[in-house]
Amino acid sequence: MTNRTQNAVITGVGMYVPETVLDNKYFEKIVDTTNEWILSRTGISERRIIENGTTSDLATGALRDLMASSGLQAEDIDVIIICTITPDMFFPATACIVQNNVGAKNAWGFDLSAACSGFLFGLETGSALIESGRYKKVVVIGADKMSSVIDYTDRNTCILFGDAASAVLLESTSDTNYGIQDSILHCDGSGKDALCMLGGGSKNPASYETIDKGYHFIYQDGKTVFKAAVNGMADVSYKIMQKHNLTGDDVAYLVPHQANLRIIDATAKKMNITRDKVMINIGKYGNTTAATIPLCLTEYYRDGKVKKGDKLILAAFGAGFTWGSMYIVWGID
Ligand code: COA
Repeated sequence: MTNRTQNAVITGVGMYVPETVLDNKYFEKIVDTTNEWILSRTGISERRIIENGTTSDLATGALRDLMASSGLQAEDIDVIIICTITPDMFFPATACIVQNNVGAKNAWGFDLSAACSGFLFGLETGSALIESGRYKKVVVIGADKMSSVIDYTDRNTCILFGDAASAVLLESTSDTNYGIQDSILHCDGSGKDALCMLGGGSKNPASYETIDKGYHFIYQDGKTVFKAAVNGMADVSYKIMQKHNLTGDDVAYLVPHQANLRIIDATAKKMNITRDKVMINIGKYGNTTAATIPLCLTEYYRDGKVKKGDKLILAAFGAGFTWGSMYIVWGID
């Protein structure tokens, strides 16, 4: 399958979703929208938000769940990669806070910023660390507290996002039929203005003016992002399938980033993959940014729907623009 003698393989999963549910009826009360509009245009029924807590709390919850379900010991973790665009603070890295929370005293780690493609970029980075032979146990966590950057008076964005975290453990396998097989990843900064948060960074340091202008909230040109997302995700997913001579029949599941059910359907259609072979949980959680893909993997695995040897195509698109696709073979019994 590959020229490598070792592959990185996912050997454990974990997740954390906060308890508070905001359903579409809630948004009918705070902005000019309807349950019917949200459901038909996005596929979202409800999303979760963390009322008292941070992204590191979400990530710590997911890592603790991963540790409890896989038997992973804190002191055995070598690296913690937190994929997020809503870190607790600019610095220190959220990875340091999570490392301390779980007592991973032998780990180093860092945050990775690639928005909705964050988990794929993190999985690629973590895999390379494993394949290098220098690290044995790498944890990749997608975690975002999107409610911290949402303007709850903007109906264009507030209905879309939720808070969550999900984690995977990467280890090495000498059976290269399993694990991370290949990836096609891209970024294109010419899309930077279509989806961004303008304030707080070195371009527009926080000031009364940036607050007045709402620069600390997400800005999105929905139509532009929608088109770019459909084209970007479908293009790389199709290419990676072609490269590995995979047809829709060979693929057990497409695991797409969960931003909009119409984007997911359009991507699957272009790949000739039927709805029953697409992982979907956007209805329950909305767009949880870096957490969507591992959240899908965790839920489908725990529901017994993913089996060892299943061929999965992961696909994402997000701010940057960033996008990509990964071909993995599931390695947990
Ligand atoms: N309720 C009711 N109407 C709404 C609304 C809401 N929550 N949000 C937007 N609208 C309105 C708009 O104001 C617009 O009204 P107008 O024509 O009077 O200006 C109308 O609906 C149509 O807007 P449009 O942008 O064409 O809607 P859409 O069908 O494209 O859906 C999104 C909007 C945001 C759901 C969609 O563009 C999308 O999902 N974009 C990509 C999101 C994404 O992937 N983001 C994360 C990066 S991965």
